Amino acid sequence: MKGRLKRHIVLIGMMGAGKTVIGTELARRLHVGFTDSDVEIESAAAMSISEIFARDGEAFFRDRETQVLARLLKGTPGVISTGGGAWMRAENRELISAQALSIWLNCDLETLWHRVRQRQTRPLLQTSNPKAVLTELLAARNPVYALAEMSFPSQSGETVEAATSRLLEAI
Ligand code: S3P
Repeated sequence: MKGRLKRHIVLIGMMGAGKTVIGTELARRLHVGFTDSDVEIESAAAMSISEIFARDGEAFFRDRETQVLARLLKGTPGVISTGGGAWMRAENRELISAQALSIWLNCDLETLWHRVRQRQTRPLLQTSNPKAVLTELLAARNPVYALAEMSFPSQSGETVEAATSRLLEAI
């Protein structure tokens, strides 16, 4: 599956599932472009995600997220990594499903927590009990993530290279 892709590959899943790192490696191996919707939103706004949440609120961020996804999906097929909440909006699911292979990087709570606990960049986790928030988000979102075209177990302790090889075999 090298060279030109027929359609985009869109990685979905929770914060800490490995969308950005696996997506970057996947795009490199497929010789296609990689974009991260969060980075696109940040560059367009010239602000970090945390600043956007603090200044304009989550609803504003979600609207930007839909706009960015629609724009990216119009471009040359490549690998797109989305923010953890992007797949929760029906409009985004429709956009993505119409033009891309959606892949859910399915990861367990403890692995996610281990990966995100040190990072202060996620506004939804900037609360007094971030693990409880992560637990609730995961329980609420998993049934929706399961609507993706493909599900891929993102395993703890596996290198990005090994996970990407496994993913390439599964596609
Ligand atoms: C979010 C996940 C973040 C970012 C924003 C909201 C979410 O992206 O879009 O903080 O709702 O889960 P990552 O999944 O890349 O951390």
